[in-house]
Amino acid sequence: MIEVMVLHCAHWTPSPEETMALLGILPASDRERIRKFHFEADRKRSLAACLLTRLLIRRMLPQLPPSDIAIERTEHGRPFLRNAPQGFDFNLSHHGDFCIIVGCLQSRVGVDVMKVELNANETADKFLDIFRDFQVTPHEWRQIEACRAPEDPSWSRLHAFFRLWCLKEAYTKTLGLGLGLDFKTIEFKVRDGVWSGRDGLVEAFDEDVSVSTNGVLQSGWYFHVGYLDTLHPFVIAVENKDLMQGEDCLLFEKVLSMSVEDFK
Ligand SMILES: CC(C)(COP(=O)(O)OP(=O)(O)OC[C@H]1O[C@@H](n2cnc3c(N)ncnc32)[C@H](O)[C@@H]1OP(=O)(O)O)[C@@H](O)C(=O)NCCC(=O)NCCS
Repeated sequence: MIEVMVLHCAHWTPSPEETMALLGILPASDRERIRKFHFEADRKRSLAACLLTRLLIRRMLPQLPPSDIAIERTEHGRPFLRNAPQGFDFNLSHHGDFCIIVGCLQSRVGVDVMKVELNANETADKFLDIFRDFQVTPHEWRQIEACRAPEDPSWSRLHAFFRLWCLKEAYTKTLGLGLGLDFKTIEFKVRDGVWSGRDGLVEAFDEDVSVSTNGVLQSGWYFHVGYLDTLHPFVIAVENKDLMQGEDCLLFEKVLSMSVEDFK
């Protein structure tokens, strides 16, 4: 089973005093990293991520004393729990209004959320043109092009692009690969018709998506594609697809707020 916790950061409004108290729970290295962000929204997302990590670990590994929760990072920046029980893994993502974390006791997992948005004066077509020959394979590009909902063809293509990007990020984050990886070496195929014409709502599926790296099909993966709201597509990647049999494989929890009490 995969545990998923989602916080709507924009709806979480701790007071300055609460924020100070919550920062006090974290190790100095995390506090330092959070304080370095220039924008308040980034600081908040990063604080949320650190706290959700601790909540998830406490939930999934109740036998672990809170004082023993030590998060380290690989050379590529992927966080992991020091002295974790074998098989345990987690990963998180924060973008736009949301922070999402996933954890599993038996498989490597990865997650990515993105807000579908454009800068001022940017159009969906202009934005997509930048990526036409960059990080997207010709096959993937054709899939994006096929997503043209009659009511808004540009935005449905943009949504398709962001869903594809989330797939690529969630997959590479599961593997803990680093920045600088050429996304063109990873190709996702989405079964014809699954995305065509849709502008947003995509349900969970696995058989509908396959991934190849450098032309070699990677078997055994499971990908859940969904939306946290109409502007935030997300993908959860699970390396061991066999775990995802039957219902209730994904346990979602909406976290509405976090206080110091939650960490005692
Ligand atoms: C570093 C990277 C994983 C960040 O992902 P992102 O989509 O920009 O941001 P997200 O919010 O989804 O994820 C950030 C979180 O992922 C985790 N993370 C960081 N490095 C990671 C890695 N190598 N693997 C897995 N997870 C990682 C961290 O928890 C981080 O949050 P934190 O620093 O607050 O703890 C990502 O940019 C990356 O390396 N991607 C692969 C290569 C690539 O992007 N190629 C295309 C270049 S245009």
